[in-house]
Amino acid sequence: MSNPKNFTETEISPLSSLDEWEEDVLKRYPEQEAPEKEKSAFRNYEAPARDTVREFYRLNHTYQTYDFVQAKRNEFLQFGKKEMPVWDAFQYLNQLVDDSDPDTDLDQFQHLLQTAEAIRADGHPDWMVLAGLMHDMGKVLCLFGEPQWAVVGDTFPVGCAHSDKIVYSEFFAYNPDSNNPELNSTLGVYKPGCGLRNVTMSWGHDEYIYQMMKDSLPEPALYMLRYHSFYAWHREGAYDYLLDDHDREMLQWVKLFNPYDLYSKNPVPPDWNRIRPFYEDLVKKYLPATLKF
Ligand SMILES: [Fe+2]
Ligand SMILES: [Fe+2]
Repeated sequence: MSNPKNFTETEISPLSSLDEWEEDVLKRYPEQEAPEKEKSAFRNYEAPARDTVREFYRLNHTYQTYDFVQAKRNEFLQFGKKEMPVWDAFQYLNQLVDDSDPDTDLDQFQHLLQTAEAIRADGHPDWMVLAGLMHDMGKVLCLFGEPQWAVVGDTFPVGCAHSDKIVYSEFFAYNPDSNNPELNSTLGVYKPGCGLRNVTMSWGHDEYIYQMMKDSLPEPALYMLRYHSFYAWHREGAYDYLLDDHDREMLQWVKLFNPYDLYSKNPVPPDWNRIRPFYEDLVKKYLPATLKF
């Protein structure tokens, strides 16, 4: 278990489940932007406990510093923790269950499968379906003992000033980088228009799955994986001064993906036995036999 600063239990798990963060994202970006056919099936959810989400962002914005991200990249991007066949990895991810909610919350695999199925139903390319299937696999970071605020939550660039378009941006006042003159200017350590590939993002499940998949999927799919929680960019249009033309071209793919992630939840699970051969072939087509974590 990595707990570099000896965080307390409530600092590691301020949310009762990871879903609480996603439910809050849904509140910010409600369903009217969903693909038409998804709307009717989309279930209502109970209002999340606002204070826990707020506390989650206080921790996230306080501790996600430039140095913290570098340390996590050094630790996790060696991929020396674990190696599993792809289908075992889904079972492993599913250990992240939500004991606090006896209701119909979907397990992690159901969310991935439903995202993928919604993409497939709309006739998008198979690599986008696979991006849907894999996009939250990085949440296994929680099973390696990482605190929730270092796994989920909106992502943002580190090494430059924080945009006020980031949710709960007032909490960046507690982030030591906000007082560091090298890191707190608009551009910080970056050059204008340097491109997001040269920008270090806050650490979490997006960057981790991107790095895991980067040799296996086409570029638009990689953008979907890497930036799916970068709401300040793909929903709010912030950080234009860091973008290059390639980012601007790829933005349409990230935007295309997002509604499938947010609005595809359905209490009725797809018939796994029927669709299983499709997914087994899809995984075989693009991914190595085992995944390294
Ligand atoms: Fe995600
Ligand atoms: Fe997701």
